[in-house]
Amino acid sequence: MKINFLTLFPDMFSGVISSSIWKQASDKSAVNYEVIDFRSYSDNKHYKVDDYPYGGGAGMVLRAQPLFDAIEDVKRKERSHSRVIMLSPQGAPFTQQKAESLAKEEHLVFVCGHYEGYDERVRTAVTDEISIGDYVLTGGELASMIVADSVIRLLPDVLGNHTSAHEDSFTTGLLEHPHYTRPAVFRGMEVPEVLLSGNHAHIEEWRRKESLRRTWIRRPDLLQERILNQQEKEWIQE
Ligand code: ADE
Repeated sequence: MKINFLTLFPDMFSGVISSSIWKQASDKSAVNYEVIDFRSYSDNKHYKVDDYPYGGGAGMVLRAQPLFDAIEDVKRKERSHSRVIMLSPQGAPFTQQKAESLAKEEHLVFVCGHYEGYDERVRTAVTDEISIGDYVLTGGELASMIVADSVIRLLPDVLGNHTSAHEDSFTTGLLEHPHYTRPAVFRGMEVPEVLLSGNHAHIEEWRRKESLRRTWIRRPDLLQERILNQQEKEWIQE
């Protein structure tokens, strides 16, 4: 997968791209990142990328021209189909389902805005508009990295066998069960006995039960669409 980030602040990406799973993914050639300062596409002699809003008002608006030219250029260079993703608080709420859909693509382009907003016409150059939550950030960079992070970890061979993306919260539709590691007693707090028993059938059942109970308590909204069997109904009554 090729990922382009179109931004006015390329330095924000350097630490993330060169660390942890992001670095491992590019070392394995599962992904290739390119961060582009779209100011370099401005046709203005001072490389201006923003301008005053028509109709007046506070703040500046990102001009359409630099973003159109940058998007067209990166699409031309990749011959594959491209998803062009604008980050904005007005976008569709980001979900695991969306991450799974983006992970199937060969080319993602993230458009990171700043200032009061984008010239409305930029929206005609994108395929997706995503919000990472109902709060306002200073720009789209952090949001784009959150979306990209959730996509990269789904790419084939990026996570080792020990961390299966298939068992994630939200992939299964449930929150994950609790985890414990040594010691068996820490400051008087004991690891549940069943996990020490070596009985894999019992452990599996305990995990399914705890996963369901935790979802019921913390995120009952996730269970709304789900049809529970008799045993699952009993588990959440306990
Ligand atoms: N840019 C500013 N706020 C944002 C948000 N909540 N999601 C995505 N992009 C943004």
